[in-house]
Amino acid sequence: MRANLDGTEMSHIQARQLTKRFGEGDSLVRAVDDVDLDVPAGQALAIMGPSGCGKSTLLQLLGGLQRPTSGRIALAGRRIDGMSERRLARLRRDGVGFVFQSFHLMDELTAVENVELAALLAGQAPRRARRRALHLLDRVGLADRAAHLPSELSGGQRQRVAIARALSNEPAVVLADEPTGNLDSAATLDVLRLFEGLRTAGQTLVVVTHDARIAAVADRIISMRDGAFTDDQHVAVHT
Ligand SMILES: Nc1ncnc2c1ncn2[C@@H]1O[C@H](COP(=O)(O)OP(=O)(O)OP(=O)(O)O)[C@@H](O)[C@H]1O
Ligand SMILES: [Mg+2]
Repeated sequence: MRANLDGTEMSHIQARQLTKRFGEGDSLVRAVDDVDLDVPAGQALAIMGPSGCGKSTLLQLLGGLQRPTSGRIALAGRRIDGMSERRLARLRRDGVGFVFQSFHLMDELTAVENVELAALLAGQAPRRARRRALHLLDRVGLADRAAHLPSELSGGQRQRVAIARALSNEPAVVLADEPTGNLDSAATLDVLRLFEGLRTAGQTLVVVTHDARIAAVADRIISMRDGAFTDDQHVAVHT
């Protein structure tokens, strides 16, 4: 049964009174502190804020990688707080693409094999998965590195492979944590164009970034501090 969390219009991502605490007593950290969020389908949302303000924690809660201390989360109208690990794993596999701050590629697989893996695990036909993986590598400027192992790639190239991998399954939601943290201007531009392509395809994007250029392609910018939103700005899209 699909339903939104309250009477409002259904959004792709919804959170209500979302809270994540770590530790207790003197060491209590309110990483995410009573946050409400609605991200409509197809929105490109950037989250910005100082180190330690809770950006990564929020992203992981929204993607079902961490459990909230309290509060409710729905993805496409399905409650994920309290969902079983098994169902959560399937939902992530089929509907969510993650780009992590620390990107883990499989060392023994080539770039293209790393990218197509998620699609293969989700049951896509091998030829289609390969074609899309090569296309995505081309989009991030790595067409000529498809057959390289991660150990044969630079840090920024590995990061771009990880971005391509997150998109291989055509997920409805892409959650990206500092995707351009290690990239130079040219590679950042490739990633920017890729993200613009996501919007054209109607995919929902939540990206944590310090990079003003990435934030500039977002429809909306949320500023965070101490686990809470301090600003929520809808910006005109200039393409
Ligand atoms: N597993 C954990 N145990 C205890 N505290 C944690 C844990 N994970 C995160 N925290 C704390 O929660 C707060 C938010 O952390 P988070 O990683 O979400 O910050 P961030 O905004 O992503 O920072 P950065 O920009 O440095 O990546 C920090 O104070 C951090 O120390
Ligand atoms: Mg972080």
